Amino acid sequence: MSKQFDVIVIGGGPGGYIAAIRAAQLGFNVACVDEWKNAKGGPALGGTCTNVGCIPSKALLQSSEHYEHAGKHFADHGINVKGLELDVAKMLARKDQVVKQNNDGITYLFKKNKITSFHGRASFVKAAEGSYEIKVAGAAEESIVGKHIVVATGSNARALPGTPFDEENILSNDGALRVGDVPKKLALIGSGVIGLEMGSVWRRLGSDVTVLEGLPTFLGAVDEQIAKEAKKAFDKQGLKIELGVKVGEIKSGKKGVNVAYTNAKGEAVSLDVDKLIVSIGRVPNTIGLNAEAVGLALDERGAINVDDECKTNLPNVWAIGDVVRGPMLAHKAEEEGVAVAERIAGQHGHVNFNTIPWVIYTSPEIAWVGQTEQQLKASGRAYKAGTFPFLANGRARALGDTTGMVKFLADAATDEILGVHMVGPQVSELISEAVVAMEFKASAEDIARICHAHPSLSEATKEAALAVDKRTLNF
Ligand code: FAD
Ligand code: NAI
Repeated sequence: MSKQFDVIVIGGGPGGYIAAIRAAQLGFNVACVDEWKNAKGGPALGGTCTNVGCIPSKALLQSSEHYEHAGKHFADHGINVKGLELDVAKMLARKDQVVKQNNDGITYLFKKNKITSFHGRASFVKAAEGSYEIKVAGAAEESIVGKHIVVATGSNARALPGTPFDEENILSNDGALRVGDVPKKLALIGSGVIGLEMGSVWRRLGSDVTVLEGLPTFLGAVDEQIAKEAKKAFDKQGLKIELGVKVGEIKSGKKGVNVAYTNAKGEAVSLDVDKLIVSIGRVPNTIGLNAEAVGLALDERGAINVDDECKTNLPNVWAIGDVVRGPMLAHKAEEEGVAVAERIAGQHGHVNFNTIPWVIYTSPEIAWVGQTEQQLKASGRAYKAGTFPFLANGRARALGDTTGMVKFLADAATDEILGVHMVGPQVSELISEAVVAMEFKASAEDIARICHAHPSLSEATKEAALAVDKRTLNF
């Protein structure tokens, strides 16, 4: 007889593994099926995020930043480095080790929470007597049955039409994290989050990097003032970003890749590079799920159709994370995983989409939560803005990194915080104060009246909140 579970989670990425843990905490008998394979063919829990996304990219961002500091900035501190050498193989091995620690951490958490883990591809077989039969195709094939199914199958990199990834010359995020030698010349298509993060890694390590963006505006979803400040910093670093291009034919050969494109002035350009990273967004992944067998409905983009509570069109089948609508972020997937497990238990799980933070881990870092100034203008909402530059922050001066600013947007009448936008050092950490404030519906004055440690970068947050009322103390 097939093994029976209260909850079967399909996918062991941040959405799936967190849903499995929360469901187990709530007393359910839980299974999680994940098909990701490590280099040896074994299981590697954690999905895109752990294996080829958030974690390895941040490991390489950290290593490459150390290299850049040692080569270019240590001298400012009176530290002269002679004979600086780059060992890319060691850097990649360290990154792989960081990934493995995270894989192992999730395996441990599954054991701790008594979650049954299956390694293989899960597909729907049929609905039967208030349950669903799921086939697991791994080393062996088996059938399991679950009362509730949580689909968390994630997303895959979008390829340019007619230009599949070969992961040798034409790289997705996967190949981009495994380049063995620093390419002399590197092009990226798409100046979104991956384009900027991976472009920064390889530029710091010595590549001549060109980023080709189709849209005429840089980081259109980011507050304009912040995006402009970030672009200035990237230009200064030598990251070449061309906006408003139309990419044409791409030819890949033994010597590298040729990218033909039309630039914003309408001129035809032919660019020869050693490697090309294509980072033009991601597509929801339902490959192999056999959604048709049970009539699970997808939308026009191929994402699983869900309502605000992550319910699909089928009773007791839920879907979360990158495979559904909304931002493709690990923490959004996690929050949905927790909320769904709690709903299955009859509780009132909730995800506040207005307070999901975004972070781009470049240098300077870019982080924001809530609405941008252009969104507020478009919606006709009356607002007040306050900014504070890191140039006037003592800790930033001590760090030697005074790029950027913190910006508050608050309702003109009530002073409620509507958006907080940051570009500068360590703003990935600073943004959580703004998230907490917005969750508690704080006013800008609330932040302005809170005591912040001195000297700290967080004082820039307090000062930007003071700036909303035009009363900064240090600028
Ligand atoms: P995934 O992490 O994609 O996991 C899905 C899992 O399901 C995979 O293991 C897959 O193998 C498995 N699976 C799929 N189909 C089946 C099946 N039929 N049977 C069994 N298993 C199956 N987000 C951030 O918030 N911060 C970041 O810094 C960040 N950096 C990123 C960097 C890069 C380079 C990339 C590509 C993404 C990054 N993201 C980041 C996005 C983040 O990785 C995703 O939003 C997140 O992984 C989505 O989680 P998920 O659980 O929905 O799906
Ligand atoms: P993205 O959506 O961030 O950016 C894609 C860019 O490519 C856009 O600017 C788009 O205009 C451009 N583009 C699309 N088609 C094009 C074409 N044919 N020619 C030229 N430009 C084109 O997607 P990206 O960078 O691939 O990342 C995917 C997702 O992964 C992100 O949206 C984000 O959700 C997640 N991610 C999150 C990170 C983080 O939180 N720090 C880091 C990396 C990825």
